[in-house]
Amino acid sequence: MTNKYHSVKPIKGIGEKRLFIETYGCQMNVNDSEVVLSILQPAGYTLCDSIKDADLILINTCSIRDNAEQRIWGRLDLFRLEKIKRKNVKVGILGCMAERLKDELLNHPAVDLVAGPDSYRSLPFLLESLESGSKQINTILSQEETYADISPVRMDKNGVSSYISIMRGCNNMCSYCVVPYVRGGERSRNPESIVREARELFANGYKEVTLLGQNVDSYHWANPDNPTEITTFAMLLEMIALVNPALRVRFSTSHPKDMGNAVLYTMAMYPNICNHVHLPVQSGSDTMLLKMNRKYTRAQYLERVAKIREIMPDCSISTDIITGFSGESDDDHRDTLSIMKEVGYYTAFMFQYSERPNTKAARRYPDDVPATIKSQRLSEIIKLQGELSLASNKADLGKEFEVLVEGYSKKSKAELTGRTQQNKTVVFPSGEHKSGDYVRVKIESCTSATLIGKEITK
Ligand code: SAH
Ligand code: SF4
Ligand code: F3S
Repeated sequence: MTNKYHSVKPIKGIGEKRLFIETYGCQMNVNDSEVVLSILQPAGYTLCDSIKDADLILINTCSIRDNAEQRIWGRLDLFRLEKIKRKNVKVGILGCMAERLKDELLNHPAVDLVAGPDSYRSLPFLLESLESGSKQINTILSQEETYADISPVRMDKNGVSSYISIMRGCNNMCSYCVVPYVRGGERSRNPESIVREARELFANGYKEVTLLGQNVDSYHWANPDNPTEITTFAMLLEMIALVNPALRVRFSTSHPKDMGNAVLYTMAMYPNICNHVHLPVQSGSDTMLLKMNRKYTRAQYLERVAKIREIMPDCSISTDIITGFSGESDDDHRDTLSIMKEVGYYTAFMFQYSERPNTKAARRYPDDVPATIKSQRLSEIIKLQGELSLASNKADLGKEFEVLVEGYSKKSKAELTGRTQQNKTVVFPSGEHKSGDYVRVKIESCTSATLIGKEITK
């Protein structure tokens, strides 16, 4: 999801000013850029797909690791050159880095505007105020903002799958993590507005929605008119599954301490809720988990995995792993390798620990694992995951899956690519099919990243 920009062809005739948005970070940011576009279109902005054509360049940023921020500073140096060439182009910084660094970013010569994740409604006003010549900033975090009433303008290219944010912020305070500081406290969005958005997407041809939150299991909405009327995540999941059986439902991210059985039973009950759980483990060592403030033990995590497998034997599980956190010993590292094998993740996002200023870890725990050890451990983890991914894909050989087609394969138009419910990528000969079709495919071969098969024609 990182380091991509998303754009669509400008709608001719609407808007006189051209906007280029570059999005970094997680899926929430991708969805937020769509919210920003919906806010800016009525103010006369139209997307363009080249920096060279833009009157306004917006960069939606990520602070999760130091290298994510370094990449943005690099981009700013480039935009500075663009501004020397074209005096009238404006540059705005959005997202998590805007929230974290505020004036430090505003002081960069390339930057005209800084707006944090809860202040996008003020963008038309901030842009208008820019005309007066002075730089503009709004990084006020909100306890209420969910952008519930805004229908994001979709910028994805495939027209098949889309994101829906169901909540914002995070209350978990994992000791290494910057998100609670840059995204603010957790708030859930009105379920009716979520269902409405899912219905609209389905009516517009979308076949898959992914419900987004930092910890979807703590989704909790109390009706302000009748506070005893509560909607939990399991209930919301059911409401979305009922929009239409031909709409696939996914969600991310689940937290091992909060993912209860009700969610699992709801997943099992509705065939259109995909059998895939992204369940970040971070570490296999109890010492590290405690220090990370993850609020579960290795045994509790494995109990959740066992329950997923008991209720949905064909459910795939993926994870996030941090290596080299403060004080991590060889034994702790071995515990991570062993839990990876025990669970048999089909895929994983794997990171070296990056100390984030002002987090609890930065204040209390020294970043004391040497860089060489961190990178050696990461290599071991990546190598093991490669083996696990291959083993997981080999176990699918000969099996049949329903694939939702997303487009042509990278190699040729004679092949389509799509995903199984388990979130694995499948490539197969196109036949008569196109994006958005559901096709039953039998798997004949694989790599560690892709399943390769043929349509079942009976
Ligand atoms: N809310 C999600 C994840 C959000 S961030 C969850 O709790 O699972 C995505 C991933 O980035 C995290 O799961 C973690 O693996 C990684 N991450 C977060 N902070 C990090 C840091 N300081 N250094 C390295 N990786 C980090
Ligand atoms: Fe960060 Fe933890 Fe919240 Fe995830 S749950 S966003 S890792 S604080
Ligand atoms: Fe990055 Fe912010 Fe997402 S820090 S991972 S863009 S919530």
